Amino acid sequence: MEAPERNADVASGPPAQQDADQKRSNRLHAMAGGDGQYSYDQNSTYQRQLFETARPLLTAALSRYQIPDQSMLHVADLGCSTGKNSVYQTGVLLSCLKAAGKLSPDTEIMVSFSDLPDNDFNLLLKRASEARQSDQAPTFLAAAVPGSFYEALFPKNWLHMVTCNTSLHWMSRVPLESERPRWNPGTIWYSRSQHQHVKDAYQKQGLKDLSDFLHYRGRELVPGGFLWMYIPGPGSRKELPQAGYEGNTWIDIIDDAWRDLVCEGVLDPESLDTFNMPVYYPSVKEIAALVESAGCYTIDTLQYVESELSPDLRATTEQEREKAGVKQADLVWAVVKSLVTGALGSEKAERLFERMQRNAVPNLESYLTPKMYTCVALIRK
Ligand SMILES: C[S@@+](CC[C@H](N)C(=O)[O-])C[C@H]1O[C@@H](n2cnc3c(N)ncnc32)[C@H](O)[C@@H]1O
Repeated sequence: MEAPERNADVASGPPAQQDADQKRSNRLHAMAGGDGQYSYDQNSTYQRQLFETARPLLTAALSRYQIPDQSMLHVADLGCSTGKNSVYQTGVLLSCLKAAGKLSPDTEIMVSFSDLPDNDFNLLLKRASEARQSDQAPTFLAAAVPGSFYEALFPKNWLHMVTCNTSLHWMSRVPLESERPRWNPGTIWYSRSQHQHVKDAYQKQGLKDLSDFLHYRGRELVPGGFLWMYIPGPGSRKELPQAGYEGNTWIDIIDDAWRDLVCEGVLDPESLDTFNMPVYYPSVKEIAALVESAGCYTIDTLQYVESELSPDLRATTEQEREKAGVKQADLVWAVVKSLVTGALGSEKAERLFERMQRNAVPNLESYLTPKMYTCVALIRK
């Protein structure tokens, strides 16, 4: 079945005039490459733990899932980053299918790992190759596919399974209004903005992006194909009833440090007023409406789960708090280093990072409040 036209309000295709901005943001979003001290490879335990929290729901959805064709399985993991988590998560998915008797001994498996063009695909392919040599999961052929998941990545009717873990909160771009100088003064995000138009613009862009994602995957998945998404949700359990994101988040670690350095005269106030994080956290309700309007999926799973902290962030003693605070700042830095360095230059970006590390320890509990994430498993009609 053809993926239907999308809701015009939130879902028209990426307009041509957005291309330049899109390209610019594509350059900036990739996680820190390599396997050094501040790389995503060495600082992605938080995201790994998120996957573990969602894993029982994924396993349950897979046990209900009927693979349309046992001779060939083409899986794509979108937003794979440099591979440590992605290769592990793909291994879990394949092992699960095997254990549930869903794969025949002859099933040929191809895994496409996809991320933005600036992603460190060398490391990714090394991690994939290491996994292929181990006998822990069914063996697979691997490919790397550079591109934005808000656009077409594969031919029509090509994929059997798509996964996308902890990536769909990244928007394709900062909303249009950001082109006006100081449109969101005093903060780097919509959560702390004083202006309703800022929150509205973020919401509109975030939902448009997610709608584009559903549209293109609807085109690329075969009928009966499986789509798994694990998406950061709007806030902690107690904040959920509110509209928008009002709680503490990893972005506040950056925002707090940036404000401190502006107050101390290290950073120009304009830098704070003009930088905006291209991140939106949709609610379950918003996701349900977009799935419905995409029209080409049936819902297997759609629910919140509460995040758990990875072991390196759990702290009781003073010494553990010190370590966990520094680790928390490192984890955030591995995600935003290229984005922030692009805005501030490397010297000032380093000052910001130092301040994030310093602030993280006294604010550990509030920065690490458990958050709600949305697990979504869909079947292509
Ligand atoms: C927090 S990482 C998650 C990586 C991995 N899935 C995991 O669970 O650890 C988010 C990833 O999404 C990627 N990403 C962000 N926007 C994207 C886009 N428009 N298209 C493809 N990948 C994107 C980033 O480059 C990054 O690698």
